[in-house]
Amino acid sequence: MEIQDKENAPTNVVGKPLDRVDGPAKVTGAARYSAEISVPGTVHGVLKTSTIAKGRIASIDTSKASQEPGILGIFTHQNLPKPAKTPKQIEKWRAAQSYLPMQDDQIQYAGQPVALVVAETLEAATQAAALIKVTYQADAPIDSYLDPKAELFDPQKIQQGKADGHVVRGNPQQAYDGAAIKHEATYVHAINHHNPMEPAATLAVWEGADKLTVYESSQNVTMHQGNLAELLGMPREQVRVVTKYIGGGFGCKGSFWPHTILTVLAARAVNRPVKLALTRQQMFTGVGHREDQEQTLRMGATAEGKLVSLVHTKKATTSPWDNYTESNGKVIDMLYACPNYSTVYELARANVMTSVWMRAPGEAPGSFALESSMDDLANQLGIDPIEIRLRNYAEHDHSNGKPWSSKSLKQCYKRGAELFGWDKRNPQPGQNRRGRMLVGHGMATATYPVHSSQGTARVRLFADGHAVVEAGATDLGTGTYTVMTQVSADALGLPPDKIRFELGDTRLPTAPGSGGSVAAGTVASSIMAAAQDVWEKVVKMAVADKKSPLYKARPADVKVELGRMFLVKNPQKGETLVAALGRSGQPDIEGSGTGKYGAGYETQKFSPIEANENSDDKEKKASGHSMHSFGAHFCEVEVDPDLGTIRVTRWVGVHGAGTILNRKTASSQMSGGAIYGIGSALMEETFRDPNYARYTNSDLASYHVPVNADIPDIQIEFVPEKDPYINLLGVKGIGELGMVGVAAAVANAVFNATGRRMRSLPMTPDKML
Ligand code: MOS
Repeated sequence: MEIQDKENAPTNVVGKPLDRVDGPAKVTGAARYSAEISVPGTVHGVLKTSTIAKGRIASIDTSKASQEPGILGIFTHQNLPKPAKTPKQIEKWRAAQSYLPMQDDQIQYAGQPVALVVAETLEAATQAAALIKVTYQADAPIDSYLDPKAELFDPQKIQQGKADGHVVRGNPQQAYDGAAIKHEATYVHAINHHNPMEPAATLAVWEGADKLTVYESSQNVTMHQGNLAELLGMPREQVRVVTKYIGGGFGCKGSFWPHTILTVLAARAVNRPVKLALTRQQMFTGVGHREDQEQTLRMGATAEGKLVSLVHTKKATTSPWDNYTESNGKVIDMLYACPNYSTVYELARANVMTSVWMRAPGEAPGSFALESSMDDLANQLGIDPIEIRLRNYAEHDHSNGKPWSSKSLKQCYKRGAELFGWDKRNPQPGQNRRGRMLVGHGMATATYPVHSSQGTARVRLFADGHAVVEAGATDLGTGTYTVMTQVSADALGLPPDKIRFELGDTRLPTAPGSGGSVAAGTVASSIMAAAQDVWEKVVKMAVADKKSPLYKARPADVKVELGRMFLVKNPQKGETLVAALGRSGQPDIEGSGTGKYGAGYETQKFSPIEANENSDDKEKKASGHSMHSFGAHFCEVEVDPDLGTIRVTRWVGVHGAGTILNRKTASSQMSGGAIYGIGSALMEETFRDPNYARYTNSDLASYHVPVNADIPDIQIEFVPEKDPYINLLGVKGIGELGMVGVAAAVANAVFNATGRRMRSLPMTPDKML
């Protein structure tokens, strides 16, 4: 029996627009988010945070606070028990930020925790936190890379992009200097915050001193478990992390932040389960952000508009300790056929917490620069924006010379243009009016890489025809429960309502988190591998069973598809897994397996490494293909010429992302990506006061995200695409793709409407006028 045959597995339920299996639990309140879980004796933690961004704590007076009724503990740097190790001492620290506050009197960023109050009630803890009096010795902070005090430095290696702090291909400067057409532009991206509906929360439950359960709003329970075990100096097995439901994360819950370990340490000290939820305001200084940044892109082209050089530089703000920056260059390197390319990053340390991956980290802002400049190039040459992209179409990946595992971008352009009515677009900017409004049409390309990942799963098939399938993955709310139910249903030939899929617990087989768009592809592969283990066991039973049509067949001659075993040479001869199991008298049978995704699946070369550890670099080198999903966005805007307001009035997104596990959830996810991108394009912006390095709009009243009234009908389609190199089912993953290129599509439509090229996000009315 062989399932790694590079043929996509047959499907029945997979692809269907199944309703969310967790839908009823969500709408009835049965689905509990981390802050909604309580265990007997749960008490409440509240953080007090620094009002200055740089300096030291001169004094902390907790005398008034401690007189409040119901106070169980007030922890500061003076009395909080120390962790066994700090992040800096941990070799495999699986998070963006390496700094842990409340270890000394130093203040490095505004909003840094300075005290944690634990009380019987949330109200008492909140009141006591307000009564703590902290005095500071403040120094002048650095607020960003734009601060005159800031010093830009070349980090060589950047965290997030890993080793690609510098990339040079060919001779980009010389090619640029000699190019017939030269284009140079600088693009600015505001600070963005993730703002999931569910704020970050931790419930820490100790059983004695050596057993810990943490209910955490985590996109990656294995990551949280690993970091906690290291910080506490405990074996991994004694730390359990549970996350059954997540109300969105966009990346911020895929890293490890101070509040989690502070809550755990406090819970051990008070010997009670402690629950702590960040307030919305604390979410702006508690779980990272997308960094403020500017990119300069120099583009050299022939007179026909063929790219000959891309020279990219980026400046951004990072924290006092970490060299984190989104690797914008990757998408600029690979999207078009261009022989010469370089990127260099420059960072400046400022008094801010470490920024972190935020939905399509690197690709989202990188594509804003690239796809805006491509639009300029088309306009400069007087050719259609799709045509300029086709002239530069990459038939293979020029960043590494490899063939694509699959690429349906031409189909996406074509179908998107059809759906949108692109041929009716007036290429002359500023010519199109609807009443008072200027109307414009723009497009841009989307792409996202298939990272390399692997994971494990367990399948238990019961003789009565139901199954329990388990993998320690997470569901951000976007559909892991649902699509893995579908994959399991097809693997076992059962209807989806006979499958119970469990996730979100480190006690389950180790699976990757929801991040980098790897979850669907990896967990689907793992389930298939575990199902194969069940198939093999049941086939063995059948060939030894006189009553089976497969009696005395050689297992090697038997194939399993959609839960039915049959002879390859005589497919009529066979029976279902459940039928054979039923006759055996055994109530159930269990299988487990490891599944790979991306380069790991293609090569199948590497000895099993710990699942969930990033093996990208090693496996990418060994793999023969470049793996990406692609898509095309088409956008209509109306611009008010008097007020400078921009409204997106139509949106079409067409994507090629391999096998789509569920048309409904996938389409919702791609709409969500477009909406997220429209937010960053038009309204999302966090302001950091240049004197105090404090955020001045850390709430949803003044940090604007799109609401229903801001969003038009969004039309999403997927082009059929089979990819034999990604994983067994050909699943590429769609977590980030829908967001990439969105801001450029909006900016390009604004240019078409007005003739104004907007290079600074968000495109707010003050910039438009
Ligand atoms: Mo995503 S930014 O990998 O949650």
